[in-house]
Amino acid sequence: MSTHPIIAPNLADLLTTHSHLTLTSAGLMLDNVLLTTIADKVGTPCWVLGIGIVLQRLQRIKTAMQAAELNIRIHYAVKANDHCALLSRLGKEGYGADIVSFGELARTQKAGIPAQRILFSGVGKTETEIEQAIGLGVGQINVESAEELALISTIAVRLGKKAPVALRVNPDVDAHTHSKITTGLAHNKFGIPFNDAAALYAHAARLPGIDILGFATHIGSQILEIDPYRAAYARIASLVRDVRSQGLPVYVVDCGGGLGIAYGTDPEAQPEALAHVIRTELGGLDVQLALEPGRWVVGPAGVLLSRVILRKEQGMAVPFLIIDAAMNDLLRPSLYEAWHGILPLTAETMQRPLERVHVVGPVCESSDCFAQNRLLPKLQHQDTLALLDTGAYGSVMSSTYNSRPLAACVVIENNTWEIIRPRQSIEELWHDEIIPTSCAPSTPLA
Ligand code: LLP
Repeated sequence: MSTHPIIAPNLADLLTTHSHLTLTSAGLMLDNVLLTTIADKVGTPCWVLGIGIVLQRLQRIKTAMQAAELNIRIHYAVKANDHCALLSRLGKEGYGADIVSFGELARTQKAGIPAQRILFSGVGKTETEIEQAIGLGVGQINVESAEELALISTIAVRLGKKAPVALRVNPDVDAHTHSKITTGLAHNKFGIPFNDAAALYAHAARLPGIDILGFATHIGSQILEIDPYRAAYARIASLVRDVRSQGLPVYVVDCGGGLGIAYGTDPEAQPEALAHVIRTELGGLDVQLALEPGRWVVGPAGVLLSRVILRKEQGMAVPFLIIDAAMNDLLRPSLYEAWHGILPLTAETMQRPLERVHVVGPVCESSDCFAQNRLLPKLQHQDTLALLDTGAYGSVMSSTYNSRPLAACVVIENNTWEIIRPRQSIEELWHDEIIPTSCAPSTPLA
């Protein structure tokens, strides 16, 4: 996934780097809950998210920022995992949210996160979305172009309000991540070109519908190096000084998200290092700071449970292990060739002799492949396994391709588990489809 090639860790390494996973004689546990129990009771495929792990990770970010004496607000990036149960839990803990659509805004409202704690990002907000955001009193709208700024001002004037706005700046910094998730390079569609930002800020300050608050930046996702952040924040700091020297106030700097996690052997990004960089580059500016982390918070807290449908080995140099999860569930491997750890769920399977296999789903595409030439204990029909680090950009990116129902979702907290979304039924796959009379089957559908 990153531009660093992933060196496949062995099973013992995976257990060491994933400290919330423990292997006991009863099997693999996530945050003290036996995953085979969930797989057996709920069936597979099934997403499992440890809410306690999510809260611990958020606390780690908070503590790192506090230790660096930073006044920073954490706005969880809803796109990483948008289940209302998670959002309402985070809302209760006082966190804010970073959203990119009316759908996400509506979820945060259903989850009870006050509108004032919402940041609205995104390169193409519709007029309706802007109206809704201003109407609900969203705390900050991050504007990504001169055109969008003009539109927001017009809408706000029409509503008799002022929209609280920060300019999202594209600092033209290489985050050294996968090309599909880098956002801070000049040729990317995101943000206002760095060289235009100061003039546009001065313009924004004169617009009747705009309450200009400051700057935002977000240079990409799954970032494992700290230097790109340093470069981006140094550029934002220079902008703050520049516009202030013109007599314009700057109240906020939104530092974006992007912290990377340890899918393979690369160590995950450290919030403490990020805090240090923010303090060095932005700490002296006397602004309200914000962060928009998604993946780092929820990614390692989730697994996708699956079961082996069959081994296809006759005539194959390397056997195919066909599992009941597929690219419609977890898209990341086929979309970005992302690497996810795989662990068997029982202690007994974990001890079987190792073999090289291709782990694939049943969908009719060759890209429906989770792992190639992966060294795993010899797994058989009906054996269960976990795909690791799927708490972020997992269930949210699922589809029903090949008419495969959306998988069930479960959360773990305080050593117990609960279903938070049952497996979609077959009938739900077509419940909103309309069959015109001319197409109606002669024998009515059940
Ligand atoms: N803020 C903005 C404006 C963003 O666009 C994103 C992610 C975030 C915050 C959160 O970034 P994070 O902390 O999660 O890296 N589907 C891809 C990731 C796409 C990220 C999109 N933007 C994947 O599976 O890797």
